[in-house]
Amino acid sequence: MLKLSSLAAAAAIAVASVAVHAGEVEVLHWWTSGGEAKSAGELKKIMQSKGHTWKDFAVAGGGGDAAMTVLKSRVVSGNPPAAAQIKGPAIQEWAAEGVLANLDSVAKAEKWDSLLPKVVADVMKYKGNYVAVPVNVHRVNWVWANPDVLKKAGVAGMPKNYDEFFAAADKIKAAGLIPVAHGGQNWQDFTTLESVVLGVGGAKFYTDAFVKLDAKALGSDTMKKSFETFRRIKSYTDPASPGRDWNLATAMVMQGKAGFQFMGDWAKGDFIAAGKVPGKDFLCAAAPGTANAFTFNVDSFAMFKLKSNDAQKAQNDLAAAIMGPEFQEVFNLNKGSIPVRLGMKMDKFDDCAKMSAKDFVETAKTGGLVPSIAHGMAVRPAISGAMQDVASQFWNDDKMTVADAMKKMTAAAATK
Ligand code: GAL
Repeated sequence: MLKLSSLAAAAAIAVASVAVHAGEVEVLHWWTSGGEAKSAGELKKIMQSKGHTWKDFAVAGGGGDAAMTVLKSRVVSGNPPAAAQIKGPAIQEWAAEGVLANLDSVAKAEKWDSLLPKVVADVMKYKGNYVAVPVNVHRVNWVWANPDVLKKAGVAGMPKNYDEFFAAADKIKAAGLIPVAHGGQNWQDFTTLESVVLGVGGAKFYTDAFVKLDAKALGSDTMKKSFETFRRIKSYTDPASPGRDWNLATAMVMQGKAGFQFMGDWAKGDFIAAGKVPGKDFLCAAAPGTANAFTFNVDSFAMFKLKSNDAQKAQNDLAAAIMGPEFQEVFNLNKGSIPVRLGMKMDKFDDCAKMSAKDFVETAKTGGLVPSIAHGMAVRPAISGAMQDVASQFWNDDKMTVADAMKKMTAAAATK
């Protein structure tokens, strides 16, 4: 009896102490597919276990274009969420508006400087102060495949270059299946184009064209060949692809309707959420010609300035949880990405993730590690947005010439 009542008292104290600091965190993200939603759910669980209330602010739309539009209107009306999925150079733009919170106290306490690659930490800081916290490292230059489709079509293995890729695509077509599952949305078109540019031109060319925005590179024969290759890939997609969400394209590969998909490794999150086993039910490989390169895409949450102390406490707890080893493991196991926190054990991760972790380290040494332009890592959003539009215009209009596309792309890259 005594024991029970003291237990009850202890529980009451625990509840009270949680309640004292409990706050609400409203988190804007665009993680709504099977694997994405499971991953976001892990963050919600951690925050709830700390006594906070999670207010989900999910804006559907892969790549986050829709989410960013909604975010702008919320911030402009003076009502920002606690945290928002903001990445790459966009973090600097938001910070320059003076709306982001300073996370230095939690960053110091949790030793972020020693737990993050410097290149990543720099992106999370504005004028030397942390304003965002990174979640993961996605690799974008992947191609996914259904092994049964390859077998049926008589394709021996994953294509290492575009000659092999198109030979395989022809065989899949001849077998009556769809060679390439594609979702015709601007960001997916651009995701494919960036992998093609990397595969055709290599990491140095990619950097010149898509990071340095060098007009010579954008007007070169290598760029011409890239656009030609990109257009040829389109001829292996199905007529129903316009507007399709990326996860529905992934489902076509899962179901054996299509052979390949060009997509970042969030696709693996969806394969896994559907119970599929890598190496058995689906295959992963670097996109043709890109085995020695790695287009990185680091998801991160920027925190907005909030007034209430409880809300700030909840926000700091969220930031600490995101960088914590427990979250970094469970989130990335579900998301298809690898932890961004250094020194994490990879033993629970699958072979695709292990390959990604190894290639991340190796390409960083050889110059093959490059920022994804299609996922907001390489240049300001105004520029990448304009370039993305050109990629889609070309993809959608078979009459547009390659020369025209190159001219338009060069002009878009010069967006002020
Ligand atoms: C990317 C994002 C990923 C994934 C993907 C599709 O931009 O970094 O986490 O969500 O969009 O929605």
